[in-house]
Amino acid sequence: MKIHELKYSNTNTFLIEGDSGKILFDTGWAGTFSAFCKAIGELHVSAQEIDYILISHFHPDHMGIAQEIADLGPVVVVMDLQRDHVHDSDVIFAKEKDTAFVPIADERVRILQISESREFLKAVGIDGEILSTPGHSDDSISLCLDSGEVFVGDLNPLYELELHRETQIEDSWNKILKANPKVVYYGHAKATEIAAAGAAVSGHDDVYKQVSKIMKLIDKGVSLDRIQKKTGVDTSFVEDVARMYLTHQNVGVQGILDRIEIKGK
Ligand SMILES: [Fe+2]
Repeated sequence: MKIHELKYSNTNTFLIEGDSGKILFDTGWAGTFSAFCKAIGELHVSAQEIDYILISHFHPDHMGIAQEIADLGPVVVVMDLQRDHVHDSDVIFAKEKDTAFVPIADERVRILQISESREFLKAVGIDGEILSTPGHSDDSISLCLDSGEVFVGDLNPLYELELHRETQIEDSWNKILKANPKVVYYGHAKATEIAAAGAAVSGHDDVYKQVSKIMKLIDKGVSLDRIQKKTGVDTSFVEDVARMYLTHQNVGVQGILDRIEIKGK
């Protein structure tokens, strides 16, 4: 399996090559079709070779050229829960007189029960599942691959999670984190690695112990500076642990590890 990030518009979109088929995850704004063709051309892939198009959610910057691509062969696959949102952006494009937009052709769409997503992906040689992850919008979905990559569209970034406690956003992330993702691909932000394996604490094998030590020192009121000196781990790691610990009531060591990412990758 191969993942290609296609950057031809303001949206990060992805071509995922399975063992027996190709899936395009998201598209750009209307008017970016020729840029899209150039981008896949550089990968020596033609639009006709793509089997399916998945749309993270039907906002204009994610579905703008889906039908133009589908006109060449790929099938737009719509989750049952997205069904009522397929045309949400048509009114926006209707106001943009200078931009040619082709609405999704309902009769050619394949509706998929989200509970059948694993079988659907398996048929193109991709192991994973599609999850309903509302928060940014009701029709938002995420594609989670068993190999650890997760594509979340415009779901609010994991590192902002403390701002969204007890909301749909937190519920959606909890669902995603259960799949043990390693890398998160966003629709607009940079892809980030999740440090659950402890990669953020270089030179220390037992990240679990370090986190619980940091938590205990925080409980005792020790300053972050002194915690850093006592434990010898990165200042940014101590800060991340402290932020997660102080903003998530009753969070445990694993909960903290799950939420910490290595930023900027
Ligand atoms: Fe959006």
